[in-house]
Amino acid sequence: MAWREQRDFLLQFLFRPTGVGAIAPSSRHLARAMVDWIDWAEVAGVIEYGPGTGAFTADILARLPAGAKFVALEINPTFCEALQRRFPELRLHQRSVREVPQVCQLEGIAQVDAVLCGLPWAAFSHRDQVDYLDALFRVLKPGGQFVTFAYLQGLLLPAGRRFRRRLDEYFSTVESSRTVWRNLPPAIVYRCRR
Ligand SMILES: C[S@@+](CC[C@H](N)C(=O)[O-])C[C@H]1O[C@@H](n2cnc3c(N)ncnc32)[C@H](O)[C@@H]1O
Repeated sequence: MAWREQRDFLLQFLFRPTGVGAIAPSSRHLARAMVDWIDWAEVAGVIEYGPGTGAFTADILARLPAGAKFVALEINPTFCEALQRRFPELRLHQRSVREVPQVCQLEGIAQVDAVLCGLPWAAFSHRDQVDYLDALFRVLKPGGQFVTFAYLQGLLLPAGRRFRRRLDEYFSTVESSRTVWRNLPPAIVYRCRR
């Protein structure tokens, strides 16, 4: 990872600690644990939530089947600028994931097969967690895949534990990966099917 990307990410964390929720971009090991789980052959539409500096985006673009639609929602303007420079072809919206139904409408997407998510769920209020999951369910197909991660320390926080319980309420199956130790901080991946 370029030192400049690392530095910019850390600066954004210092400006907006709860919005960014991490001191460094995800490692390629965490990216693989997220992206490899998706049934790419079945994907006609996919959304990335909170791409940051693009730690998962390159892998998503590499696996995307020909003709499949891919859009990303990132709330942070500095990350959006850097992302659009790095991936000029990316359909990127500087919007909150709360507005994902409106973004899908703009893009002519009814529902998608998969959502890959980098949001810091343990930093969100009860209200935001519920609103974001409700909005997600308006765009994720029945049987669709949702993959996200949690930092180990976040599992100790009430909001982190609440989010894990909430996944069980929303999804028909939820699996947790082994700990991905080669990430700063170490994380686990939640693999959920609607
Ligand atoms: C922990 S960082 C992860 C960044 C990147 N996915 C990675 O793994 O390196 C969380 C990202 O979610 C973005 N974010 C936070 N709240 C958001 C929201 N409501 N809508 C869209 N993006 C959001 C932040 O700006 C940040 O880029």
